[in-house]
Amino acid sequence: MTQTDSQRDVVDLLSADHREFDRIFTELEGLFGQSDPDVLRRKRELVDEVTIGLVKHSVAEETRVYPKVEQQVDREEAEHSKHEHAEAEETMKRLERMDPGDPQFDTEVATLIREIRHHVEHEEGRMFTELRAAFTREQLVEMAQDVERVKAMAPTRPHPMTPNEGAVRTVAGPLASLLDHLRDAVSGRGKRES
Ligand SMILES: [Fe+2]
Ligand SMILES: [Fe+2]
Repeated sequence: MTQTDSQRDVVDLLSADHREFDRIFTELEGLFGQSDPDVLRRKRELVDEVTIGLVKHSVAEETRVYPKVEQQVDREEAEHSKHEHAEAEETMKRLERMDPGDPQFDTEVATLIREIRHHVEHEEGRMFTELRAAFTREQLVEMAQDVERVKAMAPTRPHPMTPNEGAVRTVAGPLASLLDHLRDAVSGRGKRES
């Protein structure tokens, strides 16, 4: 790492998040098919960790990056990306209320991994190239700072309101609350029409 955070442009920042998600995914893949209590606990931890990272990342993209792409660069790509976020969000909600010992848990994790890897490939292959072509370095550094600010608004634990146990996970669980909290904080919803 030769650049400080204040010099990092938005493409560097979002790409670094993508690499971190993939590190967690690789560890999860290594645990597929295993059901020791320690392994199940680790699966839960990793899924929770990647979920909070993905939620922060996606909300920051949707509020600070995609609107600029939509207005000035590539409307279709922005819409496509939002659709992919919504799909992954549904998978994360299913995982949130599923016990890691459930025979379907690994299958759902594999679905999330597939969805996010596909999405990342799309963003990096098309949107990020377009961003660097359409905006100045200064604008891209400023966008990175905006993204950092949004990510800092979210709670740092995935389940701030309930104990970390399968029994208390409900259909409209803490992930939904977290998403609402973060989107409200970013949009100022409730204070003005957005
Ligand atoms: Fe992304
Ligand atoms: Fe994205």
